[in-house]
Amino acid sequence: MADDEARKQDLEQALAADAGAVEAELGLILPPSDAPFARVIEAMRYAAFAGGKRLRPFLVLESARLFGTPREGALRVAAAIEMLHTYSLVHDDLPCMDDDDLRRGKPTTHRAFDEATAVLAGDGLLTLAFGVLADEAVSPDPQRRIRLIARLAEAAGARGMIGGQMMDILAPQATYDRADVMLLQRLKTGALFEFSAEAGAVLAGADEEHGRRLRLYARDMGLAFQIADDLIDATGSSEKAGKSVGKDAGQGKATLLALLGLDGARAEVERLANACQDHLAPYGEKGRRLAYLPRLLVDRAH
Ligand code: IPE
Ligand code: IPE
Ligand code: MG
Ligand code: MG
Ligand code: MG
Repeated sequence: MADDEARKQDLEQALAADAGAVEAELGLILPPSDAPFARVIEAMRYAAFAGGKRLRPFLVLESARLFGTPREGALRVAAAIEMLHTYSLVHDDLPCMDDDDLRRGKPTTHRAFDEATAVLAGDGLLTLAFGVLADEAVSPDPQRRIRLIARLAEAAGARGMIGGQMMDILAPQATYDRADVMLLQRLKTGALFEFSAEAGAVLAGADEEHGRRLRLYARDMGLAFQIADDLIDATGSSEKAGKSVGKDAGQGKATLLALLGLDGARAEVERLANACQDHLAPYGEKGRRLAYLPRLLVDRAH
């Protein structure tokens, strides 16, 4: 138990330190503007600097640490994935999607600005993310940069995150079986996690075997994360979560929690956390933080 507590503390510290570093990197990539279009930059900055756990960047940075790749390039990739994720939240909150007023403890971007600006701010963050990956600062090797760009396009696109969002929107009218719900969640949240966890291996030009292992880790970790997110929606407070809660059930969302029930979800988290440990076993101590992450997230949800 004491060991458990120490691991948790170490992980919390690492998460906080990396979040600070990513914040600084985002500041460099996304400076304020006084151009006539400054309003969209302001909205992008509003969404990007509203807080957020910076989990995907953490996966990138930890993954890069596994392979000892240079910090500068990893930070760039971390900032890129966070911008892409932030865009997905800005659009997810729009009235035509989940229609939410609160995000990261602040009014959603369309509330703070207006709908058109929020759509454009999301588009701006999405496209900037790819521009950042194309830059030499990511890696001097163009092949590796192209690979990252292609992987992100896949993960964020219609056969990835966007496909998951489509299934999520269709859920109230659909009859999904267990496999469908798992697929929805894998696409909606898992795909960006898979990109993030694999990024270090791509930056290092590591063998495909590493990429595969890290994607498997991210898949299980993403499902555990999503169960934690569902738990927050079902039982959490909006003050603590920084977003509206208690909406999934009423909106007929196909959540893992609804599929498995509370006890089933707890058992599934345990299974997933153990699987994450197994996936990372080949990396020994270097993989310990990533291995512990699913437990921490579910712990935080209570
Ligand atoms: C929220 O993601 C959206 C989902 C994919 C469920 P996070 O819980 O990582 O949100 P932030 O980045 O910390 O705000
Ligand atoms: C959002 O999922 C997933 C993406 C933005 C891709 P949710 O709709 O469940 O996220 P929250 O609960 O609003 O953060
Ligand atoms: Mg949604
Ligand atoms: Mg939502
Ligand atoms: Mg949710």
